This record gives sequence, C-alpha cells and structure tokens, in this order.
Amino acid sequence: MTATKTEAATGDVVLEAENLTKHFPVRRGLRDLFTRDRKAVHAVDDIRLTLRRGRVTALVGESGSGKSTVARLLAQLYSRTSGDIRLHGESVTMHGGRRFRAYCRQVQMIFQDPFASLNPVHTVRYHLTRSLRIHGRAGKNAAELEQNLADLLSKVQLTPPERYLDKFPHELSGGQRQRVSIARALGADPEALLADEPVSMLDVSIRLGVLNLLRDLKERLNLAILYITHDIASARYFADETLVMYAGRMVEGGDSETVTQHPAHPYTRLLIESAPDPDRLDRVGDPREAPEDQAGGEPPSLIAPPTGCRFHPRCVHAMPKCSTDLPPRFELPIADAQQSHWAACWLYEEGAAK
Ligand SMILES: Nc1ncnc2c1ncn2[C@@H]1O[C@H](COP(=O)(O)OP(=O)(O)OP(=O)(O)O)[C@@H](O)[C@H]1O
Ligand SMILES: [Mg+2]
Repeated sequence: MTATKTEAATGDVVLEAENLTKHFPVRRGLRDLFTRDRKAVHAVDDIRLTLRRGRVTALVGESGSGKSTVARLLAQLYSRTSGDIRLHGESVTMHGGRRFRAYCRQVQMIFQDPFASLNPVHTVRYHLTRSLRIHGRAGKNAAELEQNLADLLSKVQLTPPERYLDKFPHELSGGQRQRVSIARALGADPEALLADEPVSMLDVSIRLGVLNLLRDLKERLNLAILYITHDIASARYFADETLVMYAGRMVEGGDSETVTQHPAHPYTRLLIESAPDPDRLDRVGDPREAPEDQAGGEPPSLIAPPTGCRFHPRCVHAMPKCSTDLPPRFELPIADAQQSHWAACWLYEEGAAK
C-alpha cells in the first residue's frame, strides 16, 4: 500500500524515469523502400529523472530538445521506445487496466496553451464536473458536487466560484483560463503535476501569479511538480532542482541555485549567457567574459544526431574525445552535502567522484 497524501513526507519519491527513450519513426519515401535503413527522430534518449513530493523539478532546454516528449511519455500519452517509468516504485507498462487508470489519475498534465486545452463550447462548470466525475470525486448529490466545484476553484484562487462557474473559456483572461486548466487537473486529486511551459503563452504580468499559485499548491497539497520551460531564469526562481536537456539528452542537473549560479556544462553556460541580463550589458563583446558566447551554430538534426556528446559541434571546449565517446554523468564537488550537482561533460572527468 502506498502512504496517503497526508502521511507522505516531503521529499518522498513519487515518480521515477530510467533510461527513458523515444524515437519517432520517419515516414519512408519511395526511394527509401529499397534501402534497409529505417530512419527515426531521436527525440529523447536515456533520460533519468525523479520527481519528489513537495518539490519542483525544472526541465530546461531550447526548442526541440525533447522536453514535451519527456512530459508526454511520463503522462503515458506516447508509448516509449524503451526505458522504465515507476510510480511509487512500481513499473507502469500496460495500457489499460486498474494500475494504468490509477497512474493516469495520479499523474496529471497541464498544457502550454489553456485556450487549446479547454473546449470552447463548454463552460468552466462542465470541464470541472467532468474531471470530478471521471475520477469518482463528484460527490453523492448535487449539493456535494457544487461544494467540490467551489473547493476546486478556490484552490486556484478563482473566487467567488459563482463568478466563474458558468463562464465559457473565451470569457476568461489567459491567466484565469490556465487556472481553470490547473483546477481540472486537481479534480483528479493527483500526486504529480507535469506542467509543460504553463506560463509561456501568458502575459508577462500574470506569469508570476500562476507560478506562485503552482508553488502554493506544491506546498499545500504536497505535490511533485515537473516544470518544463525554456527560461532558465524562471527555473531558478521557481524550481528546487533543475535539469538541462540538449538535443534529446540530459546534460546537467542539480539544485536550481547551483545549476543557475555555477553552471558547469558549456551548453548550460550558453543558455544562461543568452538570457538578457542588465548586469552583463557593459561586458557584451568582451570575449574573455563568456567564451560560450562565441559558440555559434544550430541545434543538430535528431535524425542523425552527432556521435559522442551531442553538443560537441557547437562547443568551444570540444576535445577529440567529445566527438567519439558519450560522456557519462560526472558528480561535481559541492559545499552542501545535502545537494547534488552533475554534468555529462568530459571536462569534468578528472575531478569526478565516482
Ligand atoms: N509526434 C511526433 N512525431 C515525430 N517527431 C516528433 C513528434 N513529436 C516531437 N517530435 C520531434 O521530437 C523532437 C523534440 O520535440 P519536443 O516537442 O519534445 O521538443 P520541446 O523541447 O518540447 O520543444 P519546444 O520548446 O519547442 O516545445 C523535435 O525534433 C520534434 O520535431
Ligand atoms: Mg514543448
């Protein structure tokens, strides 16, 4: 038996992924029919991550690095090519069945665009009632249902509930729509939320409100949250742990403060250097300040990804080994023994504590 939510302690492992891999087959053209090779997009390779109760884990990376694919694999929206996903230590492999349904209830996803994820012809009441009914939490009678709907809306700070229940999605602001999407996910009483760029479609002025709401939910409901973003600055503000992805592979991870303040992998440094920062404006153009700034180039093709480290064609520190051997995770020295920091980069081979 798994512990109930109130008994479970902050930091307990909820969801784990190991060696998670997803290759999308590429449709074969006429000429390819005569060849034996089957091409595939290597969207996600060998991902390992752990989501813990009451913690936010950020997954950061540029467009096309495979972040959404990881979330969709974890939400069981895509079947995986290989690897393992475990909820409370139990592997989830089958589609259908009691254990699979329980998984789908406990792991809920929030999408980037709340306008697309809510049905425009239905009211807030319909969306939330449906979620409660599907997950058997609608209550025994109309009064209980009404109370549960009001509770859901107050959890996402849409009060008084009667102001919102009979509104259609187009009658709400972007922030309010995203709050309704979050309330719908909470209708399942989940343990883990997978938030795929939950604020990137919103006005800058309301982003912070929605992030603060998610943080408040994490604390009050002891939720494990995966926060997907391309904005590494928001990961520092919002997430306890940060994982960095590049071209389908994880390249660095550790507690958010360390990863954002002392980035180790050249790609993470590039990501941080590319974010506008007024403190650095006076140093722009000085090559000594940020050698990663000199790294040009484009993300690689995922149909034939570079061998060795996938970042090596763009890396200013690349060594011969980087183009042939895949770097493992090297643990990096860190002052606080409670925390961890690792980078998959050959630069750290010597100092690695294995
Ligand atoms: N259903 C699919 N079929 C084929 N290829 C796909 C599919 N979904 C994603 N991909 C490919 O997998 C790679 C990773 O895509 P993904 O959407 O996971 O990236 P992302 O990091 O979420 O990007 P963004 O920041 O733009 O949302 C991309 O090269 C994409 O073209
Ligand atoms: Mg995405």
